[in-house]
Amino acid sequence: MSLTEEIKKRRTFAIIAHPDAGKTTLTEKLLLFGGAIQTAGAVKSNKIDTATKSDWMEIEKQRGISVATSVMGFEYKDVKINLLDTPGHQDFAEDTYRTLTAVDSVIMVIDCVKGVEIQTEKLMEVCRMRNTPVICFINKLDREGRDPYDLLDEVETKLNIKVRPLSWPIGMGKGFKGVYNLYEKKLNLFTPSQRKLSDDRQVFENLDDPQLDALIGPGNAAQLREDVDLIEGVYPDFDVNEYLEGKIAPVFFGSAVNNFGVNEMLDTFIKIAPTPKSRDTDVREVNPEESKFSGFVFKIHANMDPNHRNRIAFLRICSGKFERNKPYNHVRGPKPLRFSNVTQFMAQDKEIIDEAFPGDIVGLYDTGNLKIGDTLTEGENMVFTGIPSFSPEIFREVVNKDAMKTKQLEKGLKQLMEEGVAQLFTFEMGQRKVVGTVGQLQFEVIQFRLKNEYNATVEFHPMNLYKACWISCKDKKQLDEFVRSKNRYIARDKDDKLVFMAESKSWLQMVQDNYPEIEFHFTSEF
Ligand code: G4P
Repeated sequence: MSLTEEIKKRRTFAIIAHPDAGKTTLTEKLLLFGGAIQTAGAVKSNKIDTATKSDWMEIEKQRGISVATSVMGFEYKDVKINLLDTPGHQDFAEDTYRTLTAVDSVIMVIDCVKGVEIQTEKLMEVCRMRNTPVICFINKLDREGRDPYDLLDEVETKLNIKVRPLSWPIGMGKGFKGVYNLYEKKLNLFTPSQRKLSDDRQVFENLDDPQLDALIGPGNAAQLREDVDLIEGVYPDFDVNEYLEGKIAPVFFGSAVNNFGVNEMLDTFIKIAPTPKSRDTDVREVNPEESKFSGFVFKIHANMDPNHRNRIAFLRICSGKFERNKPYNHVRGPKPLRFSNVTQFMAQDKEIIDEAFPGDIVGLYDTGNLKIGDTLTEGENMVFTGIPSFSPEIFREVVNKDAMKTKQLEKGLKQLMEEGVAQLFTFEMGQRKVVGTVGQLQFEVIQFRLKNEYNATVEFHPMNLYKACWISCKDKKQLDEFVRSKNRYIARDKDDKLVFMAESKSWLQMVQDNYPEIEFHFTSEF
């Protein structure tokens, strides 16, 4: 198969959702449809058991297990689908943000009872940074949820994206009868089934068919005709290019646990979802069809066993063909790297592979050479952009409790930060070190791992900080002046970039007003 054909065959995406909306269930159903698994219940939820919510060791164990399911590849109707898993626990949201940099599109699951929830809003902001195309799946229609029109309005206003329903529910909860496929203009009636895949559906090509009244009742039939007329009147025709540009989100309704509406969405997904796209580097845009290989590392998973300090780096292939055992240019590093142990993930299994193509994700066994954001190429010196750090939400000062182990502490902190466990900021004044995270759990993880793997003892002291803002200014003199006058609040990130550590929202606003020439950014790439 030619490189172009390999690329056209691939769809790389992630499912994102607020916890409990049904991400794991939908993933499982997609794998069932793809024939990648045979029975429901095979996909382990990466959601953290409530009983272990505060037991991070248990969580890490569960995360360790989930390495195998970090990427689930499967084939459906001759399309190779790479589904990237995202952590179910909010404290690991940064992992999710980074995973989103490696996909070409996302499916967003929304619970029809709860509507758009906070985590969904945050994830959508990340999608918007790269105009990632989004498909919405409104789930749990077998429950009494909110009115579908209200839900669409909420998606539009809270997620700030235009919507276009491509399926429409008939009834809801106990009265849920099915979904009308507005894209193919077909009606599928609902037979609740958790296991059955190819349900014997009743397909209607024409909504005026009097049989419809007999099947779903005259009331439902009249309501459906009215709804469809209204939708077709209110919404312009679905324009696939608008979706591909991230301007409009097609919406599907269904019930993942009952297998309903999933097939409709998957069939439309393989038709409309983008194939691997071009990506920006600091030098130029890279087209997937270029013959030379390039890719970037977006995730690193450490081995928790201190005797085996190897880790798996997840590489997204962006162009050309990746080959096992071939030396590649490690753009940041001093020497070329060659990988003999390259794994690809098919459904629940890992297998050693010899080659991979744009859109694919491979796992590279690494002994500490790679860090998140690293680019590998077939020679060219360029770095993929669009893999930023986001401002953390919780900050704590690192206090070294064993002065004899300062070196070990420095090394441990550096390596953990390279894995993306958290972010480290070093204040210009006094060189105080501050760790920033999105969740409490990481502090326990870091403390334990520093002790266990590096023999360093630390404590974390709370700090009253609101945000880390990367700062820039067109005029270097003005920037220097700002740094001098706000010296107490200036720190450096892991790449030595200047960061302003803001204590509160209102105070940040005041500083912004007082220094209009300084730009404040909430991600490290601007
Ligand atoms: P998550 O990964 O997004 O966190 O959600 P997950 O799929 O684990 O689903 C959360 C809960 O919602 C599960 O129930 C799941 O069975 C249920 N669910 C998923 N899809 C539907 C649906 O279409 N309709 C209804 N009514 N429920 C749905 P649970 O009680 O937490 O777990 P379980 O014991 O059922 O597995």
